[in-house]
Amino acid sequence: MASPLIAPSVLAADFGNLQRDVEMIDQSVADWVHVDIMDGTFVPNFSMGIPVVQVIRRHTSKPLDVHLMIVKPEHHVEAFRKAGADRICVHVEVCDNLHRNIQQIKALGCAAGVAINPHTPLISLENVLVDVDHVCVMSVNPGFGGQSFIANTYAKVKRLRKMITDSGSAALIEIDGGVSMHNAAQLLAAGADVLVAGNFVFSAPDPKAAILGLKSL
Ligand code: DX5
Ligand code: ZN
Repeated sequence: MASPLIAPSVLAADFGNLQRDVEMIDQSVADWVHVDIMDGTFVPNFSMGIPVVQVIRRHTSKPLDVHLMIVKPEHHVEAFRKAGADRICVHVEVCDNLHRNIQQIKALGCAAGVAINPHTPLISLENVLVDVDHVCVMSVNPGFGGQSFIANTYAKVKRLRKMITDSGSAALIEIDGGVSMHNAAQLLAAGADVLVAGNFVFSAPDPKAAILGLKSL
């Protein structure tokens, strides 16, 4: 098993010390910086917008993995690209024209991801697996950091891994929500490639060591 890609989530950072926390991620062995955008409509919470993404961009050279938990993402992907996104992920639940949305993201020069909520069947992704660079499997209901991991995710990831292999897609599987040392090894064994971690990293006494712990699995 190759070593996983690690994407610490800025949502769990201290926003009063955002530069410090983003620089910590930058100096760690993390691979991507996960940036959660919430609109108070698709999910029952707000997080950050374009100006904050610009600040994050200024303080790291690592790829920004922007997770859009917003309705009508097609109206905003260009602005997030301009703010510094390297990867943009949209939710299957809000995209009536998902294939078009994915092409739009790629045309901007970004890697394209699609995120799927815990209750949404994988079959809804079947016809776009060959088009996406990653699938973000939500292992909590999106909207908040620090929630408990949903155990059904293991089986879902196994099924998704098989679907991706069967389709000939090179899409990575990213897991988002409640990831920690308690579930990370089992997720990787099920077929995950990328681990997002917010609370686990930022509540650790030594966040850089927590990132290294995940990376060393
Ligand atoms: C949840 C977000 C996650 C969140 C993960 O809606 O998409 O990226 O930051 O945080 P933890 O790891 O604390 O569950
Ligand atoms: Zn996220």
